[in-house]
Amino acid sequence: MKRHFRVWRGDASGGDLTEFDVDVNEGEVVLDIIHRLQATQAPDLACRWNCKAGKCGSCSMEINGKPRLGCMTRMSTFTEDETITITPLRTFPVIRDLVTDVSFNYEKARETPAFAPPVGVAPGEYRMQQVDVERSQEFRKCIECFLCQNTCHVVRDHEENKEAFSGPRYFIRAAELDMHPLDARGDRKEYAQSSQGLGYCNITKCCTEVCPEHIKITDNAIIPMKERVVDRRYDPLVWLGRKIFRR
Ligand code: SF4
Ligand code: F3S
Ligand code: FES
Repeated sequence: MKRHFRVWRGDASGGDLTEFDVDVNEGEVVLDIIHRLQATQAPDLACRWNCKAGKCGSCSMEINGKPRLGCMTRMSTFTEDETITITPLRTFPVIRDLVTDVSFNYEKARETPAFAPPVGVAPGEYRMQQVDVERSQEFRKCIECFLCQNTCHVVRDHEENKEAFSGPRYFIRAAELDMHPLDARGDRKEYAQSSQGLGYCNITKCCTEVCPEHIKITDNAIIPMKERVVDRRYDPLVWLGRKIFRR
């Protein structure tokens, strides 16, 4: 069956949607259609992908305006007469066609202080309870597709916020390390607030909605960190204790 597609083509200097009619077979996903386009009508169409199994996080794109993985979006989710519009991630600069420059995320990863073991504990001597391993397991499912980063309105429409805002992917990293009983780097919640821009997040939960790994980014990472930062800063007893012990 033929289906109608509009695919954004261009580069950093500009571009436009190109119309295609493509054969679609039962059981196919959007990435299959892009591959068919490359094999037939548009051999130079640029698209990043790797695993075709929802695990490498490479094939992030916007499909009918929604940030999604091309390899995990079944063609059967669209009605037969629906035009399918495929565009690159909007928050990151376009390199070519559907490929964007996601180095913003790697810069934020580099800025996030790495795990630091307690002094005197050598690699191989780390011991922790299974319950502590399991607490942050959800956050380690992240495939770094950056759909959450692309969706968050703090940077999606505000280039000027990028410097101060690390984004939801790095808030879950902070929360994961905050739950780590051996991490000796210091208070990750305070760091998230003071250096990662946690305060910019107004809990819209759009990041959680698009996460293909169904990580509860907002409920399980962002909100608990925000609550504890606020507790510490505004709890009168904590405030009094700080005043006394600072003297
Ligand atoms: Fe992708 Fe989810 Fe990881 Fe964000 S948290 S980068 S949406 S897997
Ligand atoms: Fe952005 Fe997620 Fe907060 S979308 S505003 S980081 S809840
Ligand atoms: Fe790996 Fe889609 S190709 S997640």
